[in-house]
Amino acid sequence: MNKILVTGATGHLGRETLEFLLKQVPASQLVALARDPAKLADLAERGVDIRQGDYFDSESLSRAFEGIDKVLLVSAVAFTDRITQHLNVIAAAKAAGVKQLVYTSIQRKAGSFFSISMVTESDKATEQAIKDSGIPYTILRNTLYIDTVPLLLGDKVFDEGVRVPGGSGRAPLVLRSELAEANALVLTQDAHENKIYTLGASEAFSFADIAAVFSEIKETPVPYVDITVQEFIDEKVAGGFPPPAAAFLAEWVQAVAAGEFAEVTRDLECLLGRKPTGYREFLQASYAGSAA
Ligand SMILES: NC(=O)c1ccc[n+]([C@@H]2O[C@H](COP(=O)([O-])OP(=O)(O)OC[C@H]3O[C@@H](n4cnc5c(N)ncnc54)[C@H](OP(=O)(O)O)[C@@H]3O)[C@@H](O)[C@H]2O)c1
Repeated sequence: MNKILVTGATGHLGRETLEFLLKQVPASQLVALARDPAKLADLAERGVDIRQGDYFDSESLSRAFEGIDKVLLVSAVAFTDRITQHLNVIAAAKAAGVKQLVYTSIQRKAGSFFSISMVTESDKATEQAIKDSGIPYTILRNTLYIDTVPLLLGDKVFDEGVRVPGGSGRAPLVLRSELAEANALVLTQDAHENKIYTLGASEAFSFADIAAVFSEIKETPVPYVDITVQEFIDEKVAGGFPPPAAAFLAEWVQAVAAGEFAEVTRDLECLLGRKPTGYREFLQASYAGSAA
């Protein structure tokens, strides 16, 4: 009986992964890592073992990883020295004799020099450190969450159009919950060791494609306006974003424009055993009520 530990369990991806795991294995096999275990009292009531741990505190990680066979390392939050945190987790997993380490990385174009601040370099270093550790691994290079589209586009799309500096870039954005489902499958199935998967939808789409769906919903043309990066940042700041957050968001759009997420694979479709939710379905469900 494998003991599976999920980090980031108080966050979106980790929590959703645990919900999928609970459908597949007994709660007694599951361990959730949290900086503040009180946040997971409901999971404890359902039989999940909640262990305290902080990526910055190696001793807490060593305690938490005792008797653990598989670890899902949910990547640390940007702007928080991700590499130190990830290296601490890898070292603790190695010392504890963990048999599979699953890491949620970000999709990137092969051979590309494009770098998303506070993300790409630490992802590359983490992937290398995992390989160097000798722990059997699965690296999941996730595309952008489609859940972030409303944040990217703001709430005036039907009045002002899709205003982002996305060029003609395309990306296979996908639901975070389907990436969580994939995490659970990779943690409970055999044959995923020492594999790298690129996880996204089965179809890439552009910001013009998004505008086309909005036009259908609104039943009148909604334009895609390919604004400059500075215009995008200024508009986000005017809408209340702190400047660093606005600049960070702009980088993700620029990554789409640069083709960083252009590759479409069938990795997620194969894991799920079905096509992931498409962008039209997501947009219809998310925006149909707000077009009036
Ligand atoms: N593919 C994408 O589009 C995309 C978008 C956004 C982020 N991401 C990446 O994917 C990760 C998961 O996404 P998400 O939406 O689940 O993020 P999230 O909801 O912000 O969850 C982050 C989790 O990390 C935990 N955490 C933060 N600092 C920690 C530390 N020092 N030690 C241990 N745990 C710590 C948080 O715990 P607390 O409750 O204690 O804060 C939380 O559980 C993010 O962290 C980021 O690296 C990917």
